[in-house]
Amino acid sequence: MRLAHRAASASPFYAMAVSQRAAELEAAGHSVVRLCLGEPDFGAPQAVRDAMRDAMDGRPLPYTSATGLPALREKIARFYRARHGVEVDPARIIVTSGASAALLLVTAATIDPGDEVILADPSYPCNRELIATFGGRVVAVPTTAQTRFQLDAEAVRGAWTERTAAVMIATPSNPTGTSIPAGELAEICALTRDRGAWRIIDEIYLDLSDPTPHGPARSVLSVDPDAVVINSFSKYFSMTGWRLGWCVLPHTLVPAAERLAMNYFICASTPAQVAAQVCFTDDTIAECDRRRQEFAARRSVVLAGLAEIGLPVTAAPDGAFYAYFDVTATGMDSWKFCERALREAHVALTPGRDFGTHTADSHVRLSYAASRDELREGLARLGRFVRA
Ligand SMILES: Cc1ncc(COP(=O)(O)O)c(C=O)c1O
Repeated sequence: MRLAHRAASASPFYAMAVSQRAAELEAAGHSVVRLCLGEPDFGAPQAVRDAMRDAMDGRPLPYTSATGLPALREKIARFYRARHGVEVDPARIIVTSGASAALLLVTAATIDPGDEVILADPSYPCNRELIATFGGRVVAVPTTAQTRFQLDAEAVRGAWTERTAAVMIATPSNPTGTSIPAGELAEICALTRDRGAWRIIDEIYLDLSDPTPHGPARSVLSVDPDAVVINSFSKYFSMTGWRLGWCVLPHTLVPAAERLAMNYFICASTPAQVAAQVCFTDDTIAECDRRRQEFAARRSVVLAGLAEIGLPVTAAPDGAFYAYFDVTATGMDSWKFCERALREAHVALTPGRDFGTHTADSHVRLSYAASRDELREGLARLGRFVRA
């Protein structure tokens, strides 16, 4: 028997491997400060937990339709109207098992063998695997602090070939926490649309972004109504383990994506879909916005702490709870830095190699989804480690 090529060649997700190693150290009796995963420590909002308890009243919880519970899709559409000022037909929304399943579905629906997909280096690692799974070619464009480690229109134009089928962007980004300015994103979308390619925009961290002077940061749908948008309950609603997300698709893509969703997943978890409906009440949104402010306070702790240690964050995060810092001055590459920080200081971080090749050796990702106390302790340990 032979392992499929794609399985044999898939890269591990190092953040998960670091987390596993941290768990081993904890099992051996050590206290580890875990700053390696993008997992908010708050847990689901209280109303969602209560709704889940109510859903466990013995009622049957059968499959939903492949696109998700109509009432949940309606509520997501209303959220776009209320928060982002855009009209989204609920028929364009497919509820999925996290953004991960939405990314899989969208990649399956849009990428053929030989198609090229432009994305930033560094960027979210799983996208590269998904593109390769469907025979696509990843065109990873090296980015720098000058563009806040994001693509700009010039970089997209430069990477374009006649095989370009899509541009894939997460804004705010993982691992850097930085966003593309609204005008730049609009320009990238316009040029990509004019050339007949898909715009796949991952907005999983968008509602955690710093507000603009005119209100909350807006979805790309406000400038490109036919963009493919990915979102999730994992981050803004702190529901990582609930495995629930969604995508918004142009009308023309919905029937094909629905057929694939039926075949791949049947549907997302029914109990999670039932409970998630209370995410969109005024009270729950207010709770999540208070959490967003707490993340901003944590960011201040982290940026001040890293500056004091002498680990520069060359592009400050403005949305996702990550700081991407440069370890060059320590004389270690980022792999060694993370390995030793875990072994000697018991601080779990993620090496840049998870996110591409360009900054793989020089940068490390710190997730500030942990509490302020944990962050202070982690920074104190890192300070002692670097000084030693
Ligand atoms: C940019 C980005 N997209 C997608 C995901 C997957 O999220 P989910 O938990 O919704 O599957 C993550 C997870 O960290 C992420 O950072």
